Amino acid sequence: MTTPLLELKNVSIAAVDDEGVGHTICHDVNLTINEGERHILLGPNGSGKSTLLAGIIGLHPFRITAGTATLRGEDITTLEIEDRARAGIGLAFQRPPALAGVSVDRLAAAIGAGDRLAEVEQELGLDHLGDRDVNCGFSGGEAKRFEVMKLALQGPQLCLFDEPESGVDMEQVGVVGRAVRDLLSSSDDQGRPRAGLIITHTGFILDSLDATVAHLMVDGTIVSTGEPRAMFDRIRVDGYR
Ligand SMILES: Nc1ncnc2c1ncn2[C@@H]1O[C@H](COP(=O)(O)OP(=O)(O)O)[C@@H](O)[C@H]1O
Ligand SMILES: [Mg+2]
Repeated sequence: MTTPLLELKNVSIAAVDDEGVGHTICHDVNLTINEGERHILLGPNGSGKSTLLAGIIGLHPFRITAGTATLRGEDITTLEIEDRARAGIGLAFQRPPALAGVSVDRLAAAIGAGDRLAEVEQELGLDHLGDRDVNCGFSGGEAKRFEVMKLALQGPQLCLFDEPESGVDMEQVGVVGRAVRDLLSSSDDQGRPRAGLIITHTGFILDSLDATVAHLMVDGTIVSTGEPRAMFDRIRVDGYR
């Protein structure tokens, strides 16, 4: 049996405040993602989907406070966010921050992907943004497309997407979907197949990529796992009950 790319066992994730007090948001999460797989994460607003992604990459103030989390068999629970990023985890934010003073060109160069910028910009229709500061005055759709582009430049093996298509107009939804699919279909710089964990509300992303499995999160834990299209269609009819 091959080692899973990501394995979470009975994981809790808390938002830890400045006093060190944790507010547990996700609990008892069990999730195994193998190389080459695309996992969809569904669930109502406030159920803890974004928190799960934040906990996996170690975004402040979220921390894994119980259970075990491994990447290729190595414990990641105490790694800083930059070390998890170096180990091959990347996150496309639901609400990306603005980076005044950091242009798209400079960010790409800092990632070490300046030579691929033009190609990736073209795919996402963002070739007009190069000298703009990241997310400063970007339209909603530009900001979300930029997040996918950022991940394509970074090229992590485990790609976490937080609602990549929400706020993107109908015409661009397919562009985003194809970019997500293309990234997940390619190998990382060490030739390893990538994998994805993708939060979606609209389900549009299901039209673009062949999803492996879907998980339903309710009240901070995964309550159901199944075939992505069937699960999404059932939620559309019955809601999250
Ligand atoms: N920094 C924080 N401190 C305390 N609670 C938080 C923090 N961030 C998010 N939450 C809460 O955690 C819950 C889950 O939020 P979130 O993970 O964003 O849900 P989803 O992405 O499923 O909509 C919400 O009730 C939210 O208010
Ligand atoms: Mg969210």
